[in-house]
Amino acid sequence: MGARFIVLIIAICALFSAQFVAARAEPAQQELKLVTPPLSMYRKQVRPPAESLPVPAGFTRDQILHGDRVFHGEAANGQCSVCHGIDGKGTTNGNDLTAGMFIWSDGSVKELKRSVLHNMAIAPGRDGDLELADVDAVAAYIWAISRQEPAR
Ligand code: HEC
Repeated sequence: MGARFIVLIIAICALFSAQFVAARAEPAQQELKLVTPPLSMYRKQVRPPAESLPVPAGFTRDQILHGDRVFHGEAANGQCSVCHGIDGKGTTNGNDLTAGMFIWSDGSVKELKRSVLHNMAIAPGRDGDLELADVDAVAAYIWAISRQEPAR
């Protein structure tokens, strides 16, 4: 009886110290923090005025208005503004589309459409449910916001 009790005590002690050693051996978990917060947080994001944006040749105002809705998640489950910003001026997850300068195209509607069709299915669930007509409209919309009068 006494011996069994001592064995039990030793076993419990061993368990305790093993846990302690394991905890010490684990590398210190450090929380990663952004050193510089994204600037898009501090900017007042103003939605471009879709009614007065320029309309590219061969397109209609209605397409610009529809593209605006797609861009802002009000049609075709578009997710563009999540990454490119409500004002289209970019966030940490998507570049500025209003600067009149594009990395992947010459900025024509035709090429913007190609960028959207082939490259904006980047993250699963983030490319929306765009039909071809929605892609046309949102490409025309991007063309339009890249040719706005600069804010003064
Ligand atoms: C998950 C985030 C995300 C979503 C959602 C998203 N984009 Fe993008 N988009 C990006 C990133 C990041 C880039 C830049 C890729 C690069 O340069 O390698 C980009 C690039 C682009 C470009 C090319 C820009 C250039 O400089 O050539 C266009 C046009 C564009 N996006 C339009 C759209 C449209 C329209 C939608 C909605 C249908 C959309 N994006 C949704 C992240 C996103």
